[in-house]
Amino acid sequence: MNQLEGKRALITGAARGIGLAFARAYIAEGAHVTIADIDLDAARRAAADLGPSASAVRIDVADQSSIEAAVTEVDANGGIDILINNAALFDLAPIVDITRQSFDRLYAVNVAGTLFTLQAVAKTMIARGKGGKIINMASQAGRRGEALVGVYCSTKAAVISLTQSAGLDLIKHGINVNAIAPGVVDGEHWDHVDSLFARHENLALGEKKHQVAAAVPFGRMGTAEDLTGMAVFLASPAADYIVAQTYNVDGGNWMS
Ligand SMILES: NC(=O)c1ccc[n+]([C@@H]2O[C@H](COP(=O)([O-])OP(=O)(O)OC[C@H]3O[C@@H](n4cnc5c(N)ncnc54)[C@H](O)[C@@H]3O)[C@@H](O)[C@H]2O)c1
Repeated sequence: MNQLEGKRALITGAARGIGLAFARAYIAEGAHVTIADIDLDAARRAAADLGPSASAVRIDVADQSSIEAAVTEVDANGGIDILINNAALFDLAPIVDITRQSFDRLYAVNVAGTLFTLQAVAKTMIARGKGGKIINMASQAGRRGEALVGVYCSTKAAVISLTQSAGLDLIKHGINVNAIAPGVVDGEHWDHVDSLFARHENLALGEKKHQVAAAVPFGRMGTAEDLTGMAVFLASPAADYIVAQTYNVDGGNWMS
């Protein structure tokens, strides 16, 4: 406990799901967390539930002025020691049906959102001169393409690559950039994924979830809480010598 005592964390997309579980785990370890989400009402509700060690800010990571406004506000309230780039969107389509609109939106949120939030926060960390920890949310989808998931998979491959480049560039400032690659994590996100697969593969609702769960070597889908240990570790001093890595936390789905 208290591995993050006195640290201030900014977590994007933390109004629900994995980001919210990270916020809860960080607070349990002594951090203050800002829940940054495009859904400000949900972010405020989450922060209120989490208590005095949480606050909320609106951020649209696809919008540069929104990134800058949110990061400036949070930095002015005590600085940012830890960033988790967690916000992302998913879509699914056969290659011949991928729309320009879907491609642009996923790249704006998952890739540009990750890079430019990382950039804005890294500038504040450099200015304060105390280093920091940045964690990007990749995915097993970034390790290998999937027939119906071309755009999302390629955005997560880009996150792995950006983690490497940013990690190598920023370690001279004492900023560690690493990533987590989850496998299949149950929750609202996967309910949405399941419904898209149901439509495209003519499955009953819940059937895709059943298939992916059965394929996990551990024997079940992950939970958001399965990821929190890695998220705490990568933000803690124990990870000071870890640079530009992407860690699979996926019940054994992927080995690299
Ligand atoms: N759930 C999984 O199985 C799984 C697997 C691998 C990787 N991941 C990754 O983990 C992360 C979290 O996933 P999750 O399952 O909790 O997702 P989720 O869809 O449940 O939550 C995403 C959050 O991001 C917010 N958001 C969306 N667009 C935004 C924007 N433009 N700006 C700011 N916030 C925005 C949403 O409001 C929501 O609160 C994502 O990066 C996802 O790609 C998830």
